[in-house]
Amino acid sequence: MTDRLAGKVALITGTGAGIGRGCALVFAQQGAKVFGCDIDADRARATVAAAGAAGFEMDSAHPIDLTKAADVQRCVDQVMQRHGRIDVLVNAAAINPQFAPVAQMSYEQIWVPTMVGEADIVFLMCKAAWPHLIASAAARLSTLPRWPPCAAPKWLACWLIAREKCRARDDRQLAVEGGPTRFASTPSPQDWSQLWQPPPRG
Ligand SMILES: NC(=O)c1ccc[n+]([C@@H]2O[C@H](COP(=O)([O-])OP(=O)(O)OC[C@H]3O[C@@H](n4cnc5c(N)ncnc54)[C@H](O)[C@@H]3O)[C@@H](O)[C@H]2O)c1
Repeated sequence: MTDRLAGKVALITGTGAGIGRGCALVFAQQGAKVFGCDIDADRARATVAAAGAAGFEMDSAHPIDLTKAADVQRCVDQVMQRHGRIDVLVNAAAINPQFAPVAQMSYEQIWVPTMVGEADIVFLMCKAAWPHLIASAAARLSTLPRWPPCAAPKWLACWLIAREKCRARDDRQLAVEGGPTRFASTPSPQDWSQLWQPPPRG
């Protein structure tokens, strides 16, 4: 264990599974005060228990549906009540996207839920946590993008690449907006250089 994150308050979404759970445990190990959240209460509790078993404290709000603005605000309010600030936000929660050929893709049943589960879920939390991140002396934000599966049809791959570029711009925009207060928007573990090139000038 190191104390790289000692004293930092980290709000991590999707701590019930996958990357969110992994981040929660590693951040706690590194000394952060971790506050997690997930829509799946049982799995969120299991992560808290795993942290406890390893000797680390962790809080969690669950169930929290991060596609609902009121739930997101409730989660942020609970972190603030518990710790009084947010230094780190990791957006790891996501709803698995659904894929289909464009001609067969239902707007209501596939497109909208996929966009809500991948984009809205990040926007709502960024918006709610933003004032507290800005108030932190050295805030950090990380948002994990999704990359198209190899087998995706070409049009879908193109759409996702375009969306990743948008995400990269969003990330850059957040960094620009937060820059004056020393806020840092950190890149994902993916190699951004392969995903995004600056648009040509002029
Ligand atoms: N798995 C990978 O290899 C990988 C790599 C890079 C990026 N990513 C991205 O990271 C993100 C997380 O991936 P993962 O593999 O950890 O996913 P996962 O499905 O294992 O975990 C997602 C978590 O989010 C929670 N969640 C889903 N909907 C929610 C909601 N409405 N409100 C609150 N919580 C909700 C789930 O309950 C789950 O615990 C995704 O956006 C994914 O694209 C994944």
